[in-house]
Amino acid sequence: LEKAALDAEQADGLEALRAQALGCRACPLWAPATQTVFGEGPTDAPVMFVGEQPGDQEDLDGRPFVGPAGRLFDQALQDAGLERARAYVTNAVKHFKFEPRGKRRLHQSPNPVEIRACNTWLAREIALVRPRLVVALGASAAQAVSGRAVRVGESRGRIMPLEGRDALVSVHPSYLLRLPDAEARAREYDRFVADLRLAAPYLA
Ligand code: URA
Repeated sequence: LEKAALDAEQADGLEALRAQALGCRACPLWAPATQTVFGEGPTDAPVMFVGEQPGDQEDLDGRPFVGPAGRLFDQALQDAGLERARAYVTNAVKHFKFEPRGKRRLHQSPNPVEIRACNTWLAREIALVRPRLVVALGASAAQAVSGRAVRVGESRGRIMPLEGRDALVSVHPSYLLRLPDAEARAREYDRFVADLRLAAPYLA
């Protein structure tokens, strides 16, 4: 009974948080964006994946990781033997930052001020979901999760303690999409999948 009550409270808390985030004006990114893209997944997910920010398609759909990077992420999760539906997936920054270029909207990386402005949402998502493992995808996510600048190349691929839970850093799937050389892309993809495999015991 207690567990059920706690679960319900957690779910209510997350829904309330999502509703609040829809109206966030803590930095200027909300204005040109279509909508806040909040995290999604089970309230009691043992693993939370944190990306950088929604991309073009996520901005239109209102869901994280549904565009090209999301499809690569889905494939990598599958190859690592992980079920996305059992994890909570969110971003360090909840609005799409872009530069208009003709009809296209070109992704721009969020700066440290924007990451910090958005950090309240991520911190509260983590506090409510209480995942055993937080996986930061790329430097922006790692910075948001740890509160400091992180070199992905040096930190990736090992479980590290962070504020009473475990953390894992890997590359961002968009990094793989940008690699021009097919061989490098295949090699880096395999490394990404190997990193993700470290999350498997948490979902078992
Ligand atoms: N890239 C991200 O970091 N997050 C998304 O949701 C989509 C692309």
